[in-house]
Amino acid sequence: MEKSDILVIGSGIAGLTFALEAAEAGTVTMITKKQDTDASTNYAQGGIASVLSMKDSFDLHVEDTIRSGAGLCRKRAVSIMVREGPQRIRDLQKWGVEFSHYYNENGRKVLALGREGGHSMDRIIHKADHTGREVEATLVKCCQEHPNILIIEHTSAIDLAVDYSGRSPRCVGVHLLISDGKIEHAPAKITMLSTGGCGQVYLHTTNPSIATGDGIAMAYRAGARISNLEFMQFHPTALYPVKGQAFLISEAVRGFGGVLRTSDGNTFMQNYHPMRDLAPRDIVARAIDREMKTRGEDFVYLDITGRRQDEIRERFPSIYRHLLTQNINMTKEWIPVVPAAHYMCGGVVTDLYGRTSLQCLYATGEVACNGVHGANRLASNSLLEAVVFAHRASQRVKAEVKDLLEPETLPMLDNSVESSTEEEWVLVSHDRFELQKLMWDFVGIVRSTLRLERARSRVDLIKREVENLCKRSVLTEGLLELRNIALVASMIIRSALRRRESRGLHYTTDYPEEDNSRKPRDSVLFRRRSKQSEHC
Ligand code: FAD
Ligand code: SIN
Repeated sequence: MEKSDILVIGSGIAGLTFALEAAEAGTVTMITKKQDTDASTNYAQGGIASVLSMKDSFDLHVEDTIRSGAGLCRKRAVSIMVREGPQRIRDLQKWGVEFSHYYNENGRKVLALGREGGHSMDRIIHKADHTGREVEATLVKCCQEHPNILIIEHTSAIDLAVDYSGRSPRCVGVHLLISDGKIEHAPAKITMLSTGGCGQVYLHTTNPSIATGDGIAMAYRAGARISNLEFMQFHPTALYPVKGQAFLISEAVRGFGGVLRTSDGNTFMQNYHPMRDLAPRDIVARAIDREMKTRGEDFVYLDITGRRQDEIRERFPSIYRHLLTQNINMTKEWIPVVPAAHYMCGGVVTDLYGRTSLQCLYATGEVACNGVHGANRLASNSLLEAVVFAHRASQRVKAEVKDLLEPETLPMLDNSVESSTEEEWVLVSHDRFELQKLMWDFVGIVRSTLRLERARSRVDLIKREVENLCKRSVLTEGLLELRNIALVASMIIRSALRRRESRGLHYTTDYPEEDNSRKPRDSVLFRRRSKQSEHC
């Protein structure tokens, strides 16, 4: 593979916006696992939170974010995200992204602002209920047309290549799986991890199939610091029954007047939080979980029938159409919903410019943990965080890339196995399901030490089996994903066991209160420095 100055892994909002800006300073190769638009970004519904109204203020958005983050947000990071947000929204518009708008009484075109859980103001810009599709399609087109950007689809990053010869280890590119068993090496001066989240670690998730935590696993194996993995966010309202990737019913539906009800028609959020149905997400998801468990029911209902039919169809056209295919008319009927794994608040530790603890390795978007989300992300802050910090990273990279030396030849990866047995393929799909089920049953919305320990011993056993399977099989995308899911699952459990308190998204019946006897701390994991790589 040709050398490029900058290598970007992932083609979601984070990778795309970073690439568009970094390409002003050098050649960019973007690697992506499936098709270029296959990313969580493409599925985003609610929109992007930003202070764009005279009635709103930076201080209010900062306050809402920090309140939601339950004591673990890094205030400087939050302030940067909120204050730089409006300019980054203008960048998106400059690239061609269109948002829903209306004309005010003076005939002026004004952005339509929605409301979601935990926000004290209307501040979510959106494109009806398919914001992600609009953003993804526009940015992919810009990258495809850029003379300095090459997008390579259907190629999986296996592991980061690390040069240990200098004073401190340096990332010098990545090993790639081009097709089953075929490995190539992509050297680069700078590598940007923008591989998104890890919802696929759980049985029920709103995330697409690409979200297998590859970036977290690769960074960990390469020796980078990883933080706060116990904070997996469960979205309160995925359509029930969940088939494959859970279909999300946007929080914007509650922001538009939707209320949650039990099967007898009673509302219940008034019993849990003063903001009722628009309480922060961790609180709503736990409330639903509790109602389902105490009533012995498999789901609750979301009722938006209080709004006019034409308004609902105009504001939520995609959700409306999808529900009709499931024989539900949301303008007249209640929608059955359950929580599902949605967003990883922790990830690869970065500074305020996307730099990780490993030289020349950057991370941005959902894979990264820069302190913005703390113990619970505020709704629609994810896309905002991705554009703000991808921009900051690009500014830093533009300044430093010209002074960096070309990396030497990459250390090789060995996968000299010639064939795999059918039995090995069966093991891959069986193990993936077993891991997802274990995580769903034992490491979900409500946890306990007993369940976490049980999960740990079983997940670690599967993880060892998968590592052995890797040594004797031809590498495939499925096997790589399984190895990453197993590693990330075990890291989530370790982080959860270490946190002896309940905070934000991590709730354990053994320590049901926040421990405020000392300053709240991030949980951090890293692999001891070793020249020996753990790859297949
Ligand atoms: P992604 O968009 O997931 O992109 C990751 C990329 O990395 C993909 O291209 C993938 O193929 C690639 N990749 C992964 N592993 C590898 C590998 N090993 N090799 C090569 N490529 C790889 N957030 C909001 O702020 N507002 C919303 O309204 C909203 N709605 C959402 C609705 C849904 C259904 C979901 C799932 C999420 C939603 N979120 C929302 C969260 C938000 O969409 C994501 O956090 C955000 O899009 C992540 O962007 P990203 O660029 O970091 O990752
Ligand atoms: C949604 O539309 O409910 C998702 C918003 C988010 O994840 O921030």
